Amino acid sequence: MEKPLPVLLDGDPGHDDAIAWMLAKASPLLDIRAVTSVCGNQTIEKTTYNAQRVCALLGIDAPVAMGKPAPLLAEPMNAPSVHGQSGLDGPVLPEPNAPLSSLRSVELMAKVLQESETPVALVPTGPLTNIAALLLAHPELKEKIKVISLMGGGITHGNWTPAAEFNILVDPEAAKIVFESGVPIVMSGLDVTERALIFPKDFERIRKVGNPVARVVADWLEFFYGFHREIGYTGAPLHDPVAVVSLIRPDLLTSKRLCVEIETQGEYCRGATIGHDRKPANALVNFDIDRDGFADLLVEAVSTYGEG
Ligand code: RIB
Ligand code: CA
Repeated sequence: MEKPLPVLLDGDPGHDDAIAWMLAKASPLLDIRAVTSVCGNQTIEKTTYNAQRVCALLGIDAPVAMGKPAPLLAEPMNAPSVHGQSGLDGPVLPEPNAPLSSLRSVELMAKVLQESETPVALVPTGPLTNIAALLLAHPELKEKIKVISLMGGGITHGNWTPAAEFNILVDPEAAKIVFESGVPIVMSGLDVTERALIFPKDFERIRKVGNPVARVVADWLEFFYGFHREIGYTGAPLHDPVAVVSLIRPDLLTSKRLCVEIETQGEYCRGATIGHDRKPANALVNFDIDRDGFADLLVEAVSTYGEG
């Protein structure tokens, strides 16, 4: 069996970030080398605290570093309506069981890339601020990045505005730097993530696994679904876990290579991800997912966290 793929998790937990990290930790195909927080769903202080608590819950034994406090240029923008005031409202979580890294996000990411024998996959599931900062500060480390498997954007539509998805809209300048970097990208945007619907019947399948992580994940799903049910969804669109599915079960996905360009200037379209084939492709864009297979994968993943 091949060695597990080294990965860096970068996110703004965030219910779906947390479930993405649960999926990553459960996979024997991945080796989590570090976790970094980013300002997005909530302030950097809250997403950092949440990252530490999620790592304690899941038993992720990797350094956690605090990310940038704000986007590269834009003012911070949060999403309390979706994830609550804490950024991860709902079930009680354990307190952090390890101190934060003495390094900040970019330095920790650079250290992991420098020390890794093989190229590392970056899995950003929030705004791309830290990733862009890493690429700007350490262009020599691009060759140590195997792929950037990100959740963000939407070729056909947005969610925070009609044109822009939240992660890209929070820091379009960062997204532009990432998509123009030349580093291989797999983009899981709203086109696929809004098809990654997890229904209440799936919540119960997960809860019935019966271990503590399964119960927390079911509670996270209940909370996350609450906001979406109010706006007409029939299930929870599990955005961020699709960035992990892209690495461990690409067979569940339908994808197309496109040139993706980021709008940073538009009055109405700032943060849009424009996908086309008029220039060389810079990203593999996911457009569909085997939903039932995805739901089964989540149930299998929570089952790895012990018996009920
Ligand atoms: O638009 C969905 C994205 O915004 C997800 O990453 C979610 O966690 C929020 O950050
Ligand atoms: Ca996120």
